[in-house]
Amino acid sequence: MTKGSQNVRAVVLAAGLGKRMKSELPKVLHPVLGKTILGRVLTALDGLNLEHIHIVVGHKADEVQSYLEGNPPNTSWSTHLQMPQLGTGHALSMVAPALATFNGTLLVTCGDTPLLTSETLARLLQSHEAGKAMVSLLTTVVPDAKNYGRIVRDERRQIQRIVEDKDASDKEKQINEINPAIYCFAWPDIKPALTGLKNDNKQGEYYITDIISWAVIEKHRLSSAVAEDWKEVAGINSRIELQEAGRILRDRVITKLSLQSGVTIVDPESTWISPEVTIGADSTVLPGCFLEGDIAVGRNCIVGPHTTMNGVVRVGDGASVIQSLITDSEIGNNCKVGPFAHIRFNSFVGDDSRIGNFVELKKTTVGTKTNVSHLSYVGDAEIGHNANIGAGTITANYDHITKSKNRTVVEDGASTGSNSVLVAPVKIGKEAVVAAGTVVTKDVPSETLAVGRARQENKADWVAYKKRKAAQKV
Ligand code: UD1
Ligand code: CA
Repeated sequence: MTKGSQNVRAVVLAAGLGKRMKSELPKVLHPVLGKTILGRVLTALDGLNLEHIHIVVGHKADEVQSYLEGNPPNTSWSTHLQMPQLGTGHALSMVAPALATFNGTLLVTCGDTPLLTSETLARLLQSHEAGKAMVSLLTTVVPDAKNYGRIVRDERRQIQRIVEDKDASDKEKQINEINPAIYCFAWPDIKPALTGLKNDNKQGEYYITDIISWAVIEKHRLSSAVAEDWKEVAGINSRIELQEAGRILRDRVITKLSLQSGVTIVDPESTWISPEVTIGADSTVLPGCFLEGDIAVGRNCIVGPHTTMNGVVRVGDGASVIQSLITDSEIGNNCKVGPFAHIRFNSFVGDDSRIGNFVELKKTTVGTKTNVSHLSYVGDAEIGHNANIGAGTITANYDHITKSKNRTVVEDGASTGSNSVLVAPVKIGKEAVVAAGTVVTKDVPSETLAVGRARQENKADWVAYKKRKAAQKV
């Protein structure tokens, strides 16, 4: 996105405690619309095509580390332990040993600003590079500056320093231009500032913000850019702010889908779609949907009401997915899914098929023009094209003794009658028919009828006999 990103590295400060979350979970691992706060910061950084991301961890470092291993950024990355946590300036100095041979720009952000966009970061980088600055920072104006570091400017509106809320005089507390804590530093030039930091402040911490006044005093070049939308750069400190961030992100996504993608979102208030989701034109999302993850829905689809999709999901064009839960699965064009279907674990449904009410598919492939319309569990199965799985058909795929799962194959054009049980491993051949109520324990050859149930007997005089008996009793 930016030119010259090759000698730009990011530093993400994520070692702090996050006391106000009142949580066992580290603050940066709380999710916002399906991705952690830290994950969202890393996604914004990924958009810049940087050389490397240094992540400073400390509080519950093991948990943050294992999250990162499971969900790494696309950019090369490393973690740096800060123990104990003696402030934001101290946090940055933890990265210094890894920068011994680095010569370039450090883009420093906090791990708690999930709404940050690549565009805003790129703007700061450009201002830093164009101004050949030693130190650059974003500033923004907020309605309530409480808890933020204030930007102190002189009569000529030049930035002088940043004063923390706890250290600010009553007059300084009136300032509503604040420090969102997103900076660019020329490395190794700012190294003397870092090693010279003092902790003679109310919190007894080493403040990264003191690098600004150092640059002013030493008469180094300083540049700044204003973030127009303060909400984008706001850090999350409490669960209330987490909710607010979720709503802002939701609104951002819904506006984009509505205006740019041509999607009708009937009730934005009850619809939660993560930024990773794509939806094709002329699709409609009905109320009560949660679409969180790597999800692509085609054109002319109807999703919802009350549909949840998560993980990696693909839905073809012209499909409808009503009141259903889809996880890590793919649904073809023109399929009709739901109401109340549960499709999960790498299932695949071919074009023009129907997965009806109270049907669960697990790790199952369904061909085209096949119906599994009512009340079925189909697991570890491969169902062909033009097949019909009757109401209440169940695959008995699990062997509790060996804890193994076994496969069921239903070939093209085959049909299973209502309430049949397919005891896996088993195969129903092409165009074979399984009679209703049959427990299938051995393979059914193609074009063959399998019946496995007790033969019915009709007793003609039975009702009259019962009635006579009952009459004798009174
Ligand atoms: C900091 C800024 C303040 C700014 C605000 C924006 C300083 C001194 N103050 O204050 O000017 O307005 O952010 O939100 O920098 N962290 C570490 N190690 C530490 C301490 C913090 O990694 O020892 C990390 C935290 O995990 C967090 C970030 O640094 O992601 C900011 O820390 P926090 O304690 O929230 O700083 P604020 O008091 O909000
Ligand atoms: Ca903060």
